[in-house]
Amino acid sequence: MDRIAITGGARLNGEIPISGAKNSAIKLMAASLLTEEPLRLTNMPRLADTRFLGRLLQRLGTEVVESDGAEGPETLLTTREIVSGFAPYDLVRQMRASFNVLGPLLARSGQAKVSLPGGCTIGARPVDLHLKALEALGAKIDLHEGYVYAQAPRGLQGGQVEFPFVSVGATEHTLLAAVLAHGETVMTNAACEPEITDLAECLNRMGAKVSGAGTPTITIQGVSRLSGATHAVLPDRIETGTYALAAAMAGGEVRLTRTRSDFIQALIDKMVEAGVEVTPHNDGLTVKRNGGRLKAVEITTDPYPGFATDLQAQFMALMSLAEGESVIRETIFENRFMHVPELGRLGADISVHGGEARVRGVESLEGAQVMATDLRASVSLVIAGLAARGETIVNRVYHLDRGFERLEEKLGACGAQVRRLKGDGGEEVE
Ligand code: UD1
Repeated sequence: MDRIAITGGARLNGEIPISGAKNSAIKLMAASLLTEEPLRLTNMPRLADTRFLGRLLQRLGTEVVESDGAEGPETLLTTREIVSGFAPYDLVRQMRASFNVLGPLLARSGQAKVSLPGGCTIGARPVDLHLKALEALGAKIDLHEGYVYAQAPRGLQGGQVEFPFVSVGATEHTLLAAVLAHGETVMTNAACEPEITDLAECLNRMGAKVSGAGTPTITIQGVSRLSGATHAVLPDRIETGTYALAAAMAGGEVRLTRTRSDFIQALIDKMVEAGVEVTPHNDGLTVKRNGGRLKAVEITTDPYPGFATDLQAQFMALMSLAEGESVIRETIFENRFMHVPELGRLGADISVHGGEARVRGVESLEGAQVMATDLRASVSLVIAGLAARGETIVNRVYHLDRGFERLEEKLGACGAQVRRLKGDGGEEVE
């Protein structure tokens, strides 16, 4: 298993181009199940998660061709016919978002058998809202031995879908099913994340009739068929926020390009409050910090446009060196503080009580061996390592590879001392 070694202390100076959003790309890829025509996705991130979903789609009947176009990496997905409506446990377990193939399979071919995703390290993460929404669209759902058997022999019907609380995945899943339902679907209390808007825009390019995406009420007029389209994946706001925090942690000046600062406004407000200089520009933002300790500030994670839960661990790393005590409240997932003991190994002083972490800033961190526990937690350890004295080694970096494209290269180009160690033996690779 690969590891990442970081020698702390180097300031970051330079430019980091941001990739297409992982969380958008995997839902857009699933949209290719809705049409027999080719869907061309540009600005695609090349990540373990996108490769993984590509393999599942191939089993279902999608032809997946990756190439490098003028605008960067692209993927052409063509599903002439659905050859199988079966998504087995082994595949869905490895990446939860694979579950979102259920809706499009059902919408296009009237039946599907998809494994329940099972538990997840950052909380229970059930899929009850997904299933209730599909039932509201007329699907007959049965659960047996860990599988969802779904049927809609005469097609899905538009319906009213009222979510009791905001779910990104369930909102996307409903969109992916309702676009081919007969009649109108109205979703209320829908998630407003930019990835929802991106999916709706792509579906509309394919001939769908979706309005209101980006607001809590989304209306979909079902159509009988969708066509192919070309769509550019929106920039990854979590990657953007992560590198903004890396620059703030290490000090220096980093320009983040090919992205949008408005996607991370809640983070920028907190960074500025803590004492970081942030300047938005047309193509992204510049983050600057010269000397001096940052001030502790409080954050509470919330659905978009609130502070993203996917940036909570990284922000905690920054606060571990701030002056004073920072309170970090996690409201989206119940078990999302697994990075706390690992940050503690580097010398951070953090205690957790329920959904609240108290971070008492220390003067310095010291490099150590740490363990990546999930995707965002693992990158918080890299960020902490950038400012720690000596060497930090992050084990189990496959978590990082799921969501961060060429991390060592991007940070290394700005002067960070980050290298990948191949396998447990510590043999280094370029
Ligand atoms: C997506 C993102 C993830 C991000 C999260 C919140 C992807 C692949 N992942 O995850 O990175 O952290 O949004 O911004 O896009 N819930 C239920 N029942 C359901 C569905 C959700 O109880 O049927 C709960 C979850 O357990 C969680 C909360 O709702 O506590 C929000 O989850 P949700 O917004 O659905 O997150 P994901 O779509 O899984």
